[in-house]
Amino acid sequence: MTNRRHDEPDAMEILCVEESPPDCGVVVFGASGDLTRRKLLPALFNLHQRRLMPESYYVLGYARTDYSDQQFRDLVGQALRESQPQAEPDQIQNFLQRCHYQTGDYKDLAAYEGLSQRVSSLDRTHATHGRTLFYLSTPPSLYQAVVSRLFQVGLTSQEEKTGGWRRVVIEKPIGHDLLSARKLEAGLGKVLSEDQIYRIDHYLGKETVQNIMVLRFANAIFEPIWNRQFIDHVQITAAESIGVGSRAGYYDGSGLLRDMFQNHMLQLLTLVAMEPPCSFAADCVRDEKIKVLRSMRPFPGGEELGQWIVRGQYAPGTVDGQRVAGYRQEEEVSEQSVTETFAAAKVLVDNWRWQGVPFYLRSGKRLPRRLTEIAIVFRQVPHSVFTPLLAEDFLPNTLVLNVQPEEGAHLSLQAKRPGPKLCMGTLNMHFNYKEAFGGRVPEAYERLLLDCMLGDQTLFIRTDTVEKSWQLLTPVLEQWRKSPVDEGNCRLHAYPAGSWGPQAAADLLARDGRRWRI
Ligand code: BG6
Repeated sequence: MTNRRHDEPDAMEILCVEESPPDCGVVVFGASGDLTRRKLLPALFNLHQRRLMPESYYVLGYARTDYSDQQFRDLVGQALRESQPQAEPDQIQNFLQRCHYQTGDYKDLAAYEGLSQRVSSLDRTHATHGRTLFYLSTPPSLYQAVVSRLFQVGLTSQEEKTGGWRRVVIEKPIGHDLLSARKLEAGLGKVLSEDQIYRIDHYLGKETVQNIMVLRFANAIFEPIWNRQFIDHVQITAAESIGVGSRAGYYDGSGLLRDMFQNHMLQLLTLVAMEPPCSFAADCVRDEKIKVLRSMRPFPGGEELGQWIVRGQYAPGTVDGQRVAGYRQEEEVSEQSVTETFAAAKVLVDNWRWQGVPFYLRSGKRLPRRLTEIAIVFRQVPHSVFTPLLAEDFLPNTLVLNVQPEEGAHLSLQAKRPGPKLCMGTLNMHFNYKEAFGGRVPEAYERLLLDCMLGDQTLFIRTDTVEKSWQLLTPVLEQWRKSPVDEGNCRLHAYPAGSWGPQAAADLLARDGRRWRI
């Protein structure tokens, strides 16, 4: 359904392309866990409040902890009241009525028989016609076991005639490297078809990230200049001020490249660099994204790698005026840990559009502030008519897409300062999502869960993308593993918490006569 609404203030025309999901059930594995409490249930509740959930639906939590439906509802209710203090108690109550719970082990087949009966019974009560979404909010080591058991008890089979679909949502990490990812993917592929697998990258659900495609392909002014003739380079930064917190158990065996680059950073890059898709249909978009990854120049091996990608680890320092520990002093982290908490890379996309335009990617923990942005830095003017100023005296135009914390965009232009003399300065055209459109910006998980129910895989990662991303990064991880950490080009650079990372990250751009915007 396409809605055209002209009733907005300021005559702003709103074009909506949105459908309501069909009636279905949502089964959450790992229902007693942190992600479920912090993200999934609040997202489902927000969709409920915004009347975006199906007419009829149920939520079934599944985990090992022994709860009754009522105990589960009490926990969900408490989590919702904490995360959304303004929510109407009636709305919460209404949502809780649809929540149920099933206790069970993740590997025990008999428990899945019980689950299957419960799903059938809820399916009948709520008239959801077999449509079931299974959200695996479990440790990734259980993915294979869970989907195989679901298959064994018939919960993955789809009823073509009645449209009774069965879908499975999984989160990263999908594998630890190329081989393990292939193994997991092959296992999933044995029991599920690709259109049943929804691999979440929550960055793709962020409003400003979704807006990249709208900005590029719903406006005529950007595409003609979105190429090597006009763009000098692109900078993508995803900075966090937090440290590893209580996640060291996972993070220390993973590190920043796996945690942020293999998924979020490469996805942001593909959205900026992709060609216009044939349509906004899932596979058209994903076909274009995979082409970007295929065009990415592989990182060189050996010592030369250090000229292209830099790794760092935070040392003690000060963030937001507070002294904070270094990574090696964090709880559950070994004093000898060589896990990187920062990476900066120069990436080249070898195709007609981007030949010679570097994409600089940077992400890290314990940087000065939380900031995710994509900066498109345009070329300098070819010639200055304002002598004695030279062309290089004018700052290049930069289009910054602010992903977070402020969601919006700004474009910097050179402008004349008011006054009798000819003085110039930088003018920023600023657009802020909240100011422009009002209301709250929805959480990434809301969009993504809605898309799972709608059967729209546009914002989900396809298996070839998982494979290609690992193909690009596994050799880097291998080289880092083999290289000494305290000497040579590939060494692990310490950076004080609260800084923008090691000097080597700045050198990466300085060698090309450029610098990080921030
Ligand atoms: C997750 C990573 O995928 O993204 C975390 O595992 C990171 O380490 C988080 O903190 C960042 O997400 P956001 O939405 O806070 O930018």
